[in-house]
Amino acid sequence: MDFFKFHAPTQVIFGKDTEKQAGALCKAWGAHKVLIHFGGSSAKKSGLLDRICDSLREAGLEYVLLGGVVPNPRLSKIKEGVELCRKEGADFILAVGGGSVIDSSKGIGYGLVNEGELWDYYMGKKRPAGCAPIGAVLTIAAAGSEMSTSSVVTNEEGWLKRNLQSEYSFCKFAVMNPELTYTLPAYQTASGCTDIIVHSMERYFTAAETCQLDIIDRMSEQLMRDVMRNVKIALKEPQNYDARAEIMWCGTLSHNDTTGDRSFGDWSCHQLEHELSGIYDIAHGAGLAAVWGTWARYVYRDNLPRFVQFAVNVMGVPNNFRNPEATALEGIAALEDFFRSIGMPTSISEAGIELGEEQIKELAYKCSFNNTRTIGAVKKLTLADMENIYRLAR
Ligand code: NZQ
Ligand code: ZN
Repeated sequence: MDFFKFHAPTQVIFGKDTEKQAGALCKAWGAHKVLIHFGGSSAKKSGLLDRICDSLREAGLEYVLLGGVVPNPRLSKIKEGVELCRKEGADFILAVGGGSVIDSSKGIGYGLVNEGELWDYYMGKKRPAGCAPIGAVLTIAAAGSEMSTSSVVTNEEGWLKRNLQSEYSFCKFAVMNPELTYTLPAYQTASGCTDIIVHSMERYFTAAETCQLDIIDRMSEQLMRDVMRNVKIALKEPQNYDARAEIMWCGTLSHNDTTGDRSFGDWSCHQLEHELSGIYDIAHGAGLAAVWGTWARYVYRDNLPRFVQFAVNVMGVPNNFRNPEATALEGIAALEDFFRSIGMPTSISEAGIELGEEQIKELAYKCSFNNTRTIGAVKKLTLADMENIYRLAR
């Protein structure tokens, strides 16, 4: 096995009613005044926000509120958060929401302790020297931001969506009560589960020469099967605690490197998708489902044994030993069928986006960072490959 790194320092508090501990946790992690950061309406409507405020008051903490984070969170909201924290003297950020709210909180955390233009850090022009402390109360199982090093943010000027990664942004704690996800619309449940599955797949599909540990492969395969089984249950019975709990913990494990060090993974689908949701503002998981099958058919010959293993161990396809290509292709088709069965798109037009040649060129050019990089590990994708995949996935 190649050298790998593993570091997952976030304190997890998992189970029913755990949000009541939010105040005590903020205090234990050194908070004096907390910025409670949240999204559109769901946390208010469910009464969660009130419970969080009560918990902070009980812990004797002052707080200030900032809502309005949208999916595919915006740089302008982060700047508003930085200003507010400075004005109010808030020294801890509590994210109450999903990936978008947590990523926006990380952005505020970076903005508070790093000099100069914040976007330069997201563009990779500068490396951050720290991040103000963040805690999370998770309301959707999806992005895995509660225990990841990433903050993915969209700059409205130019509609670029970029990922700033550093260990400084690890949440100090993550409160995970599966009951909080009961109110999710079916589409968000399905989109979140797609993201979870793809986080493991991005790590599973590596360059052919990368060594793999069996233990990681088996965990990864089990995780993907577990999410596929439980999302069906959660869609039928949104208040099924066991299914929601399985999905929620899988969401964290899938993206905290338990199922593989991200640095060996492929990540092409994520890179291709970030341009789609950056410009067209679609749900991230849906965008992943829209490009995955096309990507897989484009690259599978470059690591055929892995695609065969995926087909057999994850999708339950019988192994056609005489024709491994047929087995691999059957596995790809089976995953697309699964995506359709949970209401996810398997093409870009099904995701509601009509692409012409001009749009394809723009997406690929942005994804290649203006033709300065390739993406992917199974197969290194050039600007021309990216254009081909967008074209084929239309
Ligand atoms: O704003 P509200 O009203 O809360 O509605 C949200 C939002 O519309 C709703 N929602 C969340 N919890 C709910 C709920 N509705 C009812 N009941 C609840 N309990 O769900 C919608 C989506 O929320 P969002 O936070 O955007 O979802 P998700 O967790 O999928 O986050 C997506 C963002 O994370 C990024 C994506 O690119 C996207 O911007 N990612 C972040 C990663 C990371 N930081 O590690 C990794 C991922 O690969 C991903 O790129
Ligand atoms: Zn993702």
